[in-house]
Amino acid sequence: MTAQRIDGKQVADELIIKVRDRITARVNSGKRAPGLAVVLIGNDPASAVYVNSKRKRCEEAGVKSFSYDLDESTTQAELLKLIDDLNHHPEVDGILVQLPLPKHLDADLVIDHIDPHKDVDGFHPYNFGRLAQRRPLLRPCTPRGVMTLLESTSIELAGLDAVVVGASNIVGRPMALELLMARCTVTICHSKTNDLATKVAAADIVVAGVGIPNFVKGEWIKPGAIVIDVGINRLDNGKLVGDVGFEEATKNAAWITPVPGGVGPMTVATLLENTLDAAEQRETH
Ligand code: GUN
Repeated sequence: MTAQRIDGKQVADELIIKVRDRITARVNSGKRAPGLAVVLIGNDPASAVYVNSKRKRCEEAGVKSFSYDLDESTTQAELLKLIDDLNHHPEVDGILVQLPLPKHLDADLVIDHIDPHKDVDGFHPYNFGRLAQRRPLLRPCTPRGVMTLLESTSIELAGLDAVVVGASNIVGRPMALELLMARCTVTICHSKTNDLATKVAAADIVVAGVGIPNFVKGEWIKPGAIVIDVGINRLDNGKLVGDVGFEEATKNAAWITPVPGGVGPMTVATLLENTLDAAEQRETH
């Protein structure tokens, strides 16, 4: 068997067109375009690349982008003051503070300070709790984007055994809640998990988000499984790879996401979807 590719670039482009059409309809009916504030602190080169891509995609979808590039030396109080201002800014529907933050800043405090109705990352404990209770409001972008990719295969997810490798707040934990909401039976694996190979080999769906190349061996994948690779790792030779041994995995899986061009584009497209949802939700509550 050779796995079919799940084309994240194409699904993301389609999603952005849908978002753009909804925004055009809003603007034509006299409403304003949704606004997204993207806050970048310091000089982390990878973060700068991600933030630029988010800002560029905003324009394509018709989302108004507000950019805040703050110095590495920004204090906690200054950052919280900016978030206060954005919480009250009438044209800002979404606030994204790019992580990781410089070491002297406390990401939890920052996330807790964002108005949950503008928390387009879905990281605030309010939004996380809503997802855990199966009544999501704003959902973390990467896991929500993965669900959109899974939907694009038209495979019935209810009852499937899903293994999530990685238990981070951004990917693994909310991913497990999304899959549970889709009525999968979910196992969360992490760095202390015993016998990862056996757990992965039993899975109909594997979602890997650990940030280590070849952490999930392709040989482990069950014949016919769906493999979603959230990892984006740059090797010493410059090549981008995921967390799953791709060549071997394609021999077993029925469906697989490539890296690059799989989950990555979905995260940004889903951010824009969340920003539009946030604008609409703010009008109705
Ligand atoms: N850093 C890596 N991924 C993300 C994300 O989805 N949101 C934010 N804010 N920072 C990140």
